Amino acid sequence: MNASTAPRKTVLSGVRPTGPLHLGNYVGALRNWIRLQDIYNCYYSIVPWHALSSEYANSKAITGWTFEVAVDWLSVGLDPDKCVMFLQSEVKEHAELHLLLSMITPLPWLERVPTYKEQLKELQEKELNTYGFLGYPVLQAADIAVYKADLVPVGEDQAAHVELTREIVRRFNRIFGPVFPEPQTLLTEVPRLAGTDGRKMSKSYGNAVYLKDSAETIRQKIMPMVTDTRRIRRTDPGEPNDCPVFTLYKAFVPKDKQDEIAVGCRTAGIGCRDCKGVLLEHLFRFLEPVWESRRRFEEHPENIWEILEAGNVKARTKAQAVMAEVREALGF
Ligand code: TRP
Ligand code: SF4
Repeated sequence: MNASTAPRKTVLSGVRPTGPLHLGNYVGALRNWIRLQDIYNCYYSIVPWHALSSEYANSKAITGWTFEVAVDWLSVGLDPDKCVMFLQSEVKEHAELHLLLSMITPLPWLERVPTYKEQLKELQEKELNTYGFLGYPVLQAADIAVYKADLVPVGEDQAAHVELTREIVRRFNRIFGPVFPEPQTLLTEVPRLAGTDGRKMSKSYGNAVYLKDSAETIRQKIMPMVTDTRRIRRTDPGEPNDCPVFTLYKAFVPKDKQDEIAVGCRTAGIGCRDCKGVLLEHLFRFLEPVWESRRRFEEHPENIWEILEAGNVKARTKAQAVMAEVREALGF
């Protein structure tokens, strides 16, 4: 088989609906997902059940957050004609496969997932000593396997979960017979975006610039942003590679302009204020069509739910076919 007749590979990824998406989410994931939708059979899922594993006490907020994520997706260019965008919690086959996989997943595999103990400690204010929280990666394995996904585009922080998925499906295939492909992580090479305080851009640090932020809000976040600490005075030269602002340049400003600014920074030919001004121009150039698209979607919220429902139907069709095979492999 040559490349043009080989069946298209299946891609699956998911995002927890815990609030609106920021520029780091765009650069780290969405930008890549948009490229992939032209090449593969892509399933992109909003995963309320995963959100519930840590936010069960806020369950009533999850539907609103789901809406936010869907609008963010559509406004940056995920296209429901090219990919299946859907809600995990509306495709009950995920829950059935999660249950079956939980029967064969040894507890120690889950206890040694690096993020598990860390998160337990970090989120101590929430009671996370639950069955569901420990089983988070099993649910993720079900999300992936129920579409027989080959490729899972995620950031480095999720690589351990995909590795565990491979181990679980390998065990399933050995016990019940070959049903699932072993999914590969599609690691996205991305410049890590810094937030306004210089740390990694993250919702939980409160340092993020959101896709839905207005121009004025973004200006107010960027202008006081931390820069290379060597540039105390305007006449002190700086090093762009040590500057949080420049991580945004690498993601949103064309290379020739980046190079010009880098020279200006190293020779103190340009001040940080001017540098941030140029960055804002480019950010707004990227965001204007996104805002425009958002306005159109927000005028008709019912369309958003319709798009998701159409995706749910397509996802269900595939997941039901796979679950029929799974039950047969079990002899049910
Ligand atoms: N655990 C992922 C995250 O926190 C979200 C997720 C759930 C996911 N199911 C998935 C990612 C399946 C990839 C594939 O980002
Ligand atoms: Fe950072 Fe720009 Fe200032 Fe250089 S000029 S330190 S890249 S903000």
